Amino acid sequence: MITGGNSGIGKATALEIAKRGGTVHLVCRNKERAEAAKEEIVKESNKEEIFVHILDMSRPKMILEFADKFQQENNKLDVLINNAGCMINQRELTADGLESNFATNTLGTYILTTALMPLLKKNEAARVITVSSGGMLVQKLNISDLQFKTGQFDGTMAYAQNKRQQVIMTEQWAKMHKEIHFSSMHPGWADTPAVRTSMPDFYEKMKNRLRTEGQGADTVVWLAISNVQSQHPSGLFFQGMAEQKVQLSLSEIVKEVAEQQDRQTVEAQDNNNLLRYLQAQLSKQEKEKQVVLKELRTIEKQIYQAEDESENEGQLCTDLESQIWSLIASNSKLKFIIQEEEEKYVKLLSGYDKYRKKILAHKEFIGQLESKNPIMMQLEEKMLMMQKLKAKKKELVADLQNPEGNIIKQVQGEITDLKAKLSEIKEAINEKSVLLIKEQERHAQLRKEIEVQNKRCEAILKRLYCQLNKVQSNKRHWTWDMQQMEKTAAHLRRCLGNAV
Ligand SMILES: NC(=O)c1ccc[n+]([C@@H]2O[C@H](COP(=O)([O-])OP(=O)(O)OC[C@H]3O[C@@H](n4cnc5c(N)ncnc54)[C@H](OP(=O)(O)O)[C@@H]3O)[C@@H](O)[C@H]2O)c1
Repeated sequence: MITGGNSGIGKATALEIAKRGGTVHLVCRNKERAEAAKEEIVKESNKEEIFVHILDMSRPKMILEFADKFQQENNKLDVLINNAGCMINQRELTADGLESNFATNTLGTYILTTALMPLLKKNEAARVITVSSGGMLVQKLNISDLQFKTGQFDGTMAYAQNKRQQVIMTEQWAKMHKEIHFSSMHPGWADTPAVRTSMPDFYEKMKNRLRTEGQGADTVVWLAISNVQSQHPSGLFFQGMAEQKVQLSLSEIVKEVAEQQDRQTVEAQDNNNLLRYLQAQLSKQEKEKQVVLKELRTIEKQIYQAEDESENEGQLCTDLESQIWSLIASNSKLKFIIQEEEEKYVKLLSGYDKYRKKILAHKEFIGQLESKNPIMMQLEEKMLMMQKLKAKKKELVADLQNPEGNIIKQVQGEITDLKAKLSEIKEAINEKSVLLIKEQERHAQLRKEIEVQNKRCEAILKRLYCQLNKVQSNKRHWTWDMQQMEKTAAHLRRCLGNAV
């Protein structure tokens, strides 16, 4: 049974085993790709016993169900090859909430292997081979964060950690299940879809020196079928094949060893390159981490500042809110006052209307009165006179234009009459003025006499006042004398009483 048998090293291994007569169970997640691989293997190997099982190695429950079903349907399993693997560069979760790399590489491998152990143990020489990676050399086992929840996620490092976990699991299984032979291995860097898509930079640098998929499968095939392999202790990690070394003659062995040494040197160089690549990536990540940390610190500061600001703004808001509430209260008060004022205004308007009507009536009344007023009547008369005079003026003008007219003579006569009357009036006025002056003089004389009389009265009053004062002081003397005399009389009366 080989997981991930539809592609790369897995498919090459399946083909090789089929060519050698093995019955193969391909455990794949994609039916189409699995069927295509089966077809190819059947075609190239002429082996019909190639079976396809659809299973997603990142789904624990499905793996258990598959293992159950497989054990019910099959009474024998010689070799389990845990080949399916992935390197997902973003932290993704499966439908079960597990980190995808861990779920596929470590947990899936563990569940399938342990679930199939009863069936494997039925076979005396059952083997479990786990396709790990030389990349695991850059990671120590870390069981504190299996889901890569903390720190910045790095797909390459997650993959390396999973591959380290596979090696450790293999060692542990070997210790716990002596009936089964366990191995883990590194296939050497081979040109497969996984390397092309998951490590594009590495692929670009190494593409001319990468092994073929078939070469990548050589160690796993050897671990699966070689009789010599089972003589190695269980639980070991393999890099390259050891089988050929044992089967060849001494000179061939020397030659093979030399070739193998060359291969190993190349492989070591490749590993070194990978190591350098991984180290470079690590330091790049470290630098990025520092930058991110720095950014984090500034963001933290900004958050604190923003928090302070929002607190201040909150205070400001509450102040503003209370101001708004007081404004709303005064506003409603004002509204109430305005309403009252409006009502008053409407009342005033209706009052004002009454007054206006009254004023109009008064005006009318005054007009009527004015028309009855003597002055106004005189005015009207004068106006009439004026009109008459104007008419006369017109006549006179007409007369003037006609020198033989009588009207001028008549008017001149009237004027002389009027002049005579005027001089008479003037004389009467002069007489009246003389009389007025005499009357004024008499008035002045009388006023002087009154003043003299007033002064006399005042002098008399003063004298009378002095006399009154004198009388009053005399009265006081007399009163005192009387009191003294009354006292003496009383004294004498007492003396007389005593004498008697
Ligand atoms: N190539 C190398 O240089 C190299 C080096 C070191 C280690 N390895 C290891 O070799 C193994 C094979 O890789 P490869 O290089 O041959 O790459 P590959 O051609 O991409 O093969 C990977 C296989 O795993 C299958 N797979 C991945 N996730 C799966 C899942 N959740 N459920 C079921 N199958 C799943 C793939 O199926 P899909 O076709 O459906 O994707 C594919 O069949 C891997 O474990 C890898 O880590 C390879």
